[in-house]
Amino acid sequence: MAINHPSFGTLAEDRIIIFDTTLRDGEQSPGFSMNLDEKLRMAEALADLGVDVMEAGFPIASMGDFESVEAIAKRFAKEGPVVCGLARTSSADILRAAEAIKPAARRRIHTFVSTSPLHMRVKLRMEPEAVLELVTASVSLARQHTDDVEWSAEDGTRTEHEFLCRCVEAAIKAGATTINIPDTVGYAVPEDMAFIFNMLRERVPGADGVIFSTHNHNDLGLAVANTLAAIRAGARQVECTINGIGERAGNASLEEAVMALRTRHDAIPTTNSIVTTKLLKVSKLLAATTGFDVQPNKAIVGRNAFAHESGIHQDGVLKDASTYEIMTPESVGWTTNSLVLGKHSGRAAFRDRLKSLGYEIGDNQLNDAFKRFKDLADRKKVVYDEDIAALVDDEVGRTNETIRLTGLNVSTGMGTKPMATITLEVDGERRDGMAIGDGAVDATFNALRQAYPHEVNLKLYAVQSVTGGTDAQARVTVRFEEKGKLVDGQGADTCTIVASARAYVHALNKLLVKRERTEPPAVLRA
Ligand code: KIV
Ligand code: ZN
Repeated sequence: MAINHPSFGTLAEDRIIIFDTTLRDGEQSPGFSMNLDEKLRMAEALADLGVDVMEAGFPIASMGDFESVEAIAKRFAKEGPVVCGLARTSSADILRAAEAIKPAARRRIHTFVSTSPLHMRVKLRMEPEAVLELVTASVSLARQHTDDVEWSAEDGTRTEHEFLCRCVEAAIKAGATTINIPDTVGYAVPEDMAFIFNMLRERVPGADGVIFSTHNHNDLGLAVANTLAAIRAGARQVECTINGIGERAGNASLEEAVMALRTRHDAIPTTNSIVTTKLLKVSKLLAATTGFDVQPNKAIVGRNAFAHESGIHQDGVLKDASTYEIMTPESVGWTTNSLVLGKHSGRAAFRDRLKSLGYEIGDNQLNDAFKRFKDLADRKKVVYDEDIAALVDDEVGRTNETIRLTGLNVSTGMGTKPMATITLEVDGERRDGMAIGDGAVDATFNALRQAYPHEVNLKLYAVQSVTGGTDAQARVTVRFEEKGKLVDGQGADTCTIVASARAYVHALNKLLVKRERTEPPAVLRA
């Protein structure tokens, strides 16, 4: 039966709503926090990708969270996806979420409470009847601020069935328009999902007037499988994140769920709004912003996802790609045209190429990126798409940075102690540092610490080559840890030492942003 939804109007029975929570559940995972500019850029990319609902954050968690949800809501004040803010059951939470999402043309409050016996006893220390009252009160209050209200049963898949039905009934009666059943701890198997959604749809009065939603964590690697099982059992909203980021092992990956639905339309005949050719671009933007690359064999967006290595496979693909390819690389945004510009290429060609790679950047960033491209083309025989992407990713990750790397000199060789001199700009003021070290990278980092004294726990230093060849750019990742929190920085350059310094400065800037933010409530760390 078609459903009439406050934000979407009449929804066809086979229409799947794509609810992206990269900026909320995804951003909660260690090392993935983003600043306001980064979140806005991701929000634009997600809207361009075609997500229906964007969970922009948890407004009461911190001032930073509130401001970014509000900024995203303002960005979509005229049109765009539904902007959603998360809230627990308290009126303070709900009012804060309502205030943050207010500027958006279409807005949703997503309120949740734990319903499993374990969570109610240990976490909430409440009796089930009291939790039921909270469900009614929280949804009713949220409905006073928007017609589009989602209610979630946290730890829903470990909730007693009878009680889950009662909670869902209470939420619907109070005015919830979407009912979400999270597999909060990634415990369920696909059969559980089928049972739960069929049960709710059959037994709960009013179930035929709401959208059922599925939200799966990937602790057992089953998040996407569980998502598909829920859809087969009637769920019509999928909660997911780009690259599958999220608490612990992450959430269901948007690109995997969407491509499974598209590729296996025969088995699960549904429709959705995602422009799949933009999947890779958004995945790369997230990786560049957070500093976490996906693993090479990651489905859809991993470097090897469409690479055929064995002779038998290559032979088959050359004869007919469908022998070993169930979807085309182009359908998710991979391009075959890898060889691009040279040192004689002009700004217009560069901008054009960026556009076809899916990057639209402002004039200032374009100028900086173009300068770096020219410099790269001077040093490197061939500039590939991957080089340009690495360079631009590096550039766009650096807006509004407090600390900027403006100069670096390193001397090293056999039998000499490496020495680095470095120049930084900190809030516009020049700072210099000079140091020796056990190797050129160590000397550079020591010089950095001299120019900008700070204490930090370096957890990871990793170098990857962007393309092949000895003139390839190095992409360096640096990870810091402070009070249990991780931040990553990335830098790219044909000189590994320069890339390392850029990555270090990137991470340091992110750490400064992180220090400004207050801790999110413990409830979200469950
Ligand atoms: O996993 C979970 O239970 C959640 C809720 C807040 C919806 O993320
Ligand atoms: Zn979650």
